[in-house]
Amino acid sequence: MVNVAVLGYGTVGSGVVEVLNTNKEIIKRNVGEELKVKYVLDLREFEGDPVQEILVHDYDVILKDKDVKIIAEAMGGEEPAYTFTKNALLAGKSVCTSNKELVAKHGAELLEVAKANNANYLFEASVGGGIPIIRPLNDCITADEITEISGILNGTTNYILTEMSEKGAAFDDVLKEAQDKGYAERNPEADVEGYDACRKIAILTSLVTGAQVDFEDIHTEGITKITDVDFKYAKAMKASIKLLGISRKIDGKFYSMVAPFLIKENNPLYHVSGVFNGILVHGNMVDDLMFYGRGAGKRPTASAVVSDVVDAAKNLGKHIPVEWNRSKSEIGKFEECKSRFFVRMKDKGLDDDQMMTIIEAFGDVLYVKAEGVVDELAFITNEIREDDFSEHLKKFEDVYSVIRVDF
Ligand code: NDP
Ligand code: HSE
Repeated sequence: MVNVAVLGYGTVGSGVVEVLNTNKEIIKRNVGEELKVKYVLDLREFEGDPVQEILVHDYDVILKDKDVKIIAEAMGGEEPAYTFTKNALLAGKSVCTSNKELVAKHGAELLEVAKANNANYLFEASVGGGIPIIRPLNDCITADEITEISGILNGTTNYILTEMSEKGAAFDDVLKEAQDKGYAERNPEADVEGYDACRKIAILTSLVTGAQVDFEDIHTEGITKITDVDFKYAKAMKASIKLLGISRKIDGKFYSMVAPFLIKENNPLYHVSGVFNGILVHGNMVDDLMFYGRGAGKRPTASAVVSDVVDAAKNLGKHIPVEWNRSKSEIGKFEECKSRFFVRMKDKGLDDDQMMTIIEAFGDVLYVKAEGVVDELAFITNEIREDDFSEHLKKFEDVYSVIRVDF
C-alpha cells in the first residue's frame, strides 16, 4: 500500500479524494498496489464529511510521517505551497500539483530538488485541467523540434466568451456562474485578465525550450474589454473570439503572448467551447497535434492530479527526468510580433480625412459592417508589427476596440 496526503480540500483537493475512492480498484490495478489517503490538510473543519477522520491542520504531521510517500498539493498560491512542497521533496516525498502559479515560478527549482532527492515533482493538472499535455510533451513528442504551441488555456474565460457569444449573456453574470461551477481562480482577475493563461503558456514554453520562461516577459491581455458589439462583428465575419496563449518559434526564438483573437472555422480551436480547452502543438516531423478536453473543474482536474499520483507511485525512489532547467530562456521581443488587427472606431461621417488617415496608417484595409451597429468604422489591417501598429493607432481618437485576427 502507498500512503498519500492531500493538501487543500477545496474544489481540486476534494476531487482528488473522490477520484482515489471512486476508482480505487482501477488505480490499484494500474499501480500494482493500493493507494490510501492517509491525511487531508485544510484550514477548515468538514463536519459530516468522512474526510474529517483523516483531517489535519498541522503540515508537520504529514512531513514527519515516513509512511507518506506522495503528496497531492491542491491549496494553490505561492506560500505556504512552495515551502511545503520543497520540504516534502527534501524529505524524499513526491509532490503532484495543480498549482500553476507555483509551477510557473518555481517549477525548475523544484524539479532540481526532486531529482536530488530521488523524488518527483509532477504537474499534469497545471495546464489544461484534465487534458494530458505535460506528459505528452515530456514523454511522447520527444523526436521533434516543436515550433509552435498555442491554444485556449483557460476554462473560465472560454466559458464566459462562449456564453456571451451564444446567449448574449452579461460578463459579470457568466463569471459568477463559472465561479459557482468551481472553474475560476480564488481571485478571478487571474482568469479574466489573462494571467492564468500566461502562466500556462510560460510552463509549456519552458518545457519546450528546456529552460525557464518567465511569465512576466510574456505580453498578456485579458477579455475584460470584449463587448457584445465585438461579438456582432465576429458573427458578421463568421468568426469567434477566443483568448489564446501562443508561442511560435521564428528564426530560432519563441515569441509568446496571451490575447483575445478572432479566429475562423478553419482553425481547430474555433469549435472549442465552454469550459473546454484546446492545445495545438506543431512538431517539425509529426506536424499538427491537438489536445482537447475540460480545462477546469473538480473531476477533470483531479483526474490529472491522480494520474500523476499513479506515476509517482509506480516510480517510488526513482526520479522521472523532466527537461526544464533554471537558466533563463530568452523569448523574442513582443514589439517584433506581427499580426493583423481588427479595429473599431467612431465614424466621423463623410469625413475624407479619417479615411485618408486610415490609409496612411494601415494601407489598404478591409472594412467590416455588423448588423445594427451604427456610427462606427470597423476594419481589419494587413499584417503589421506590434510596435508599428501601436504607433499608428495613436493618430486616432475614439478607438472602441482592437482585437488581433488569426485568419
Ligand atoms: P480552492 O480554493 O477550492 O481550494 C483550496 C483549498 O486549500 C481550500 O480548501 C483552502 O482552505 C485550502 N488551503 C489554502 N491554504 C491552505 C493552507 N495554508 N493550509 C491548508 N489548507 C489550505 O481552490 P481550487 O481547488 O479551485 O484550486 C486549487 C489549486 O488548483 C489552485 O492552484 C488552482 O489554480 C489549481 N487549479 C484549479 C482548477 C479548478 O478547476 N478549480 C483547475 C486546475 C488547477 P480555505 O478555503 O479555508 O482557504
Ligand atoms: N481557473 C482555471 C481555468 C482553472 O479556468 O482554466 C484551470 O487551470
